[in-house]
Amino acid sequence: MLNPQKIRKDFPILRRRINNYPLIYFDNAATTQKPKQVIAAIEGFYENHNANVHRAVHTLSQEASELYENAHEEVANFISANDMEEIIFVRGTTEAINLVAYAWGLRNLKSDDEVIVSLMEHHSNIVPWELLSKIGKFKIKYVNVNNDGTFNYEDFENKISKKTKIVCVSHVSNVSGVVNNVKTLAEVTHEHGALILVDGAQSVPHLPVNVKDSDVDFLAFSGHKMLGPTGIGVLYGKHEILEMMEPFQGGGEMIREVSFNSKLQRCSITWNDLPWKFEAGTPNIAGGIGLMEAVKYLRRIGMENIKRHECVLTEYAMQHLQKLPKAKIYGPREASAKCGIIPFGIGGLGSHDIALFLDNYGVMVRSGFHCAQPLHQIFKLQSSVRVSFYIYNIREEIDRFIEALKEIEQI
Ligand code: ALA
Repeated sequence: MLNPQKIRKDFPILRRRINNYPLIYFDNAATTQKPKQVIAAIEGFYENHNANVHRAVHTLSQEASELYENAHEEVANFISANDMEEIIFVRGTTEAINLVAYAWGLRNLKSDDEVIVSLMEHHSNIVPWELLSKIGKFKIKYVNVNNDGTFNYEDFENKISKKTKIVCVSHVSNVSGVVNNVKTLAEVTHEHGALILVDGAQSVPHLPVNVKDSDVDFLAFSGHKMLGPTGIGVLYGKHEILEMMEPFQGGGEMIREVSFNSKLQRCSITWNDLPWKFEAGTPNIAGGIGLMEAVKYLRRIGMENIKRHECVLTEYAMQHLQKLPKAKIYGPREASAKCGIIPFGIGGLGSHDIALFLDNYGVMVRSGFHCAQPLHQIFKLQSSVRVSFYIYNIREEIDRFIEALKEIEQI
């Protein structure tokens, strides 16, 4: 069982008061807070082991390299990948998706091909494909979202065809918290001979994710949304697909050999082994080590426990929000269809006004369109207020949030 009171003691920032109220942090879908174990791991690396990786024979470089490789191993185990060769460290989900778009898409998508993208995607899973289609001339087909924010599986089946080369879909919506059945989507995608790229930014931190079981080809996620530092994220890719791909960026670390041919006046280059072939330049070593500590922390709690805890909080918050006369929840009404995230509005008030009002009471929420304007268009909204929970949130915080909303309703 998850003990949030015990967990809270690990998060120094939760001792803060904002505007004379204890901090209530409900903006976890944007980024999560960091436990002291993660902060100490980063500090410990810089204090004791700092050196570049894979470049020198001295002790510090050996230690840094070992820690950095262990971080890949830890992440591989966390999502049940075969081994660390399938785990590429990147800056975050956005860079992971761009890596697939440019390193795989640029070479494999031809003018008659189709890419399927859902309308519930974060902009980071829409914009790279739109940008690339201007070079590759392939067609993008958007899968509709139902009025309640759930994925339209029927529309997906109608749009996928032998022309489809890749399906790009989020596991959990960053706006509504809707959980998509990626295992079924992967099955249908593979029946049509296409690949599936899953944006796991809002699922990997909150649910058990097993890439062997779901059989997805690519999975992208960010460290900072799962207790880790910013600037580190992961692209999981199936070994055989990564092996046949050309690199994304060129530079140090990603090569095995660069040799100059004086006759041709050219360099011939061979690539390094996976995953380093995709990690050009000095990587974010401390970030990787911080992410390893974050993963260890989450594993100690257990992903099933985390999922259950967030479901309970979501259900509790939705019950109370529904009782407020002027509040309107967007997306599915049943907490069971979603995971830890609730978008809502209050009467005709602007979302930033509501968020600023809540800030006066120490409650941090996100307002705006959450980098997902197409989904807001489906909801016929300019913007929404979003609360998103994590392991350290408790019912008492939801009670205080609801009390603050009652005051807003009086205005
Ligand atoms: N993708 C992040 C969010 O949904 C920033 O808030």
